[in-house]
Amino acid sequence: MEQRKIRAAITAIEAYLPDYILTNEELSRMVDTSDEWIVSRVGIHERRILKDKDKGMTYMAIKAVKTLMDKNGIEPGEIDGVICSTVTPDMVFPASAAIISNACGIKNALSFDMNVGCAGFIHAFKTASLYIESGFCKKMLVVSGEKMSSIIDYTDRNTCPLFGDGAAAVLLEPCADGNGLQDAILRSDGVGKEFLHMKAGGSLRPASIETVTAREHFVYQDGKNVFKWAVSKMADVSIEMMERHGLDPKKIYFLPHQANLRIIDAVGNRMGISPDRVLINIDKRANTSSATIPILIWDNKHNFLKGDDLILSSFGAGFAWGSLWVKWAVDCMK
Ligand code: UT7
Repeated sequence: MEQRKIRAAITAIEAYLPDYILTNEELSRMVDTSDEWIVSRVGIHERRILKDKDKGMTYMAIKAVKTLMDKNGIEPGEIDGVICSTVTPDMVFPASAAIISNACGIKNALSFDMNVGCAGFIHAFKTASLYIESGFCKKMLVVSGEKMSSIIDYTDRNTCPLFGDGAAAVLLEPCADGNGLQDAILRSDGVGKEFLHMKAGGSLRPASIETVTAREHFVYQDGKNVFKWAVSKMADVSIEMMERHGLDPKKIYFLPHQANLRIIDAVGNRMGISPDRVLINIDKRANTSSATIPILIWDNKHNFLKGDDLILSSFGAGFAWGSLWVKWAVDCMK
């Protein structure tokens, strides 16, 4: 019998969203904005915020991982690897993946962080899949978490309505029935540094009284420019993926990064995807950076059937972007 290729498949997924809901109405009391502007220009109605000052990103990631392990009867010792994608680690070092592993009792696994901006999850998924396809690891966790509220300036109306907090954990396992991750197109350039960055806090401009006073430890974004690049790059790689494999745009689910409803609509249109197959949760979750796609999968996991074709596409700081083609591997996910 023909030996089928081992692929990495999502066999479980959980997410954690903090309880506090920051509404557009509350934001419009903080800065000069309005519900009408935010909904019509971005598509966001509300976002979740981790209010507790003494809790970092890993608080949410640990909740997601522990729920995943409890619900699926996974013992910590079974996990071979943990990759955490984030731009808001608890600390510069140690890696948040190590903090998460320790809190979840995962003692004998490799672990590391990846910072690929909003495109972190798709890069971490592909990286984890290489460990699984090679046979080096059997069970891997990809954990994407962001406490964006820790790097957002709530006096800046250009950025503060856009982002939310949240985390999701995905279990990847080997799959030999033809489902799982089929292909990946991942790209980056340095062009985006000018348009999307945090000015201080790195080795170039370490934290100082001056950097704090100048409010340089927050997200800076030239939204108009990022918008244009996001539409063209996400559409280009996703169309390339469909053409490469003869995928019918009417039959796939498209799971785009949730940065702006107008970006999502424009990319879906260029790809020729039926609007009901373009999955959206930006209205309630906002932009949780690298966590948007796994939270979107989690919100929709009960709708997917084994063999369904999913295209995941993201774009973010760097710029870095890409597209993954995944065949959903399980029926009736818990
Ligand atoms: O996840 C990483 C990748 N990020 C993205 O993909 C985000 C891409 N960019 C965007 O989504 C959009 O560019 C934004 C949502 C950030 C901004 O929308 P826009 O339609 O591009 O607005 P703009 O920046 O061109 O600003 C238009 C106007 C400006 O006023 P003037 O100069 O025309 O008088 C802004 O000052 O809207 C103003 N504005 C606001 N008004 C009310 C900007 N933010 C706000 C606000 N409320 N919150």
